Amino acid sequence: MKLISLVENSSCHADCGCIHGLSLYLETPKHRILFDMGPNALFLENAQVLGVDLSTVDLAVLSHGHYDHGGGLELFCKRNETAPILIAEHTFDVHAVRVEDGYEDIGVPAGLQGKWSERIRTLSGPLDSELYILTEIPHREYLTAASATLLERSGEEYVSDRFLHEQNLIVSCEGKHFLLAGCAHRGIVNILRAGEAVIGGEFDYVFSGFHLTNPGLGIDEPEALVRAVGEELRARQKTRYITGHCTGAGPYEILREMLGQRLDTMPSGRVFVL
Ligand SMILES: [Fe+2]
Ligand SMILES: [Fe+2]
Repeated sequence: MKLISLVENSSCHADCGCIHGLSLYLETPKHRILFDMGPNALFLENAQVLGVDLSTVDLAVLSHGHYDHGGGLELFCKRNETAPILIAEHTFDVHAVRVEDGYEDIGVPAGLQGKWSERIRTLSGPLDSELYILTEIPHREYLTAASATLLERSGEEYVSDRFLHEQNLIVSCEGKHFLLAGCAHRGIVNILRAGEAVIGGEFDYVFSGFHLTNPGLGIDEPEALVRAVGEELRARQKTRYITGHCTGAGPYEILREMLGQRLDTMPSGRVFVL
């Protein structure tokens, strides 16, 4: 499996830009997949620099309905005329964060769903022998304050986001299992457990932001929570974790100290052949 980071908050490539967001491109024996599109046109620009032809992608997966992952959705629809785009239900609901004088919309424009309805689909469970869309996350441990501050609109009110718009992708190929999540708002440990139940064992690699910092306020989760998450990750025998985006520099350092080389980053321009 080959995975190329098209967009992340940092860059390791002189000609690739970076921005708060995430977009990953994957090549498997059967598929060319775009997982998230970042907030804007940067994924298109970096794909060109990196020699990735997005017109040949046969499946796009949107991890959740936040702009930093789905802002590039319409640009992708125009660049690639055929690939279906898989979303979780509620992706186009209103998602927001509280700011000083009200609420700031951090969602994906609702109008896109109708405009591209022929291509936007909601599926869960196995897609084929390689791919599985994971939406059911029964556990609710290690939830973070950073995710708890995010909101969804219910009628005229804003209430705590239940993240029903979040989905995760499992890729199984060439004897390895990969878990891809966007921000892991429902908790990376909970998502990991649900994914492990699907594959019946441990993942080889996890690619995900862990949302252990509040990107708007720059406040990291308490060290005790970060370490508790780290203990869970470390308890797996073989899983390697590639993270960034909303993990936060402070929490990353703590996790790196705990996990050593089993933890790594995914800046824009980084290529993984696994
Ligand atoms: Fe995010
Ligand atoms: Fe998010």
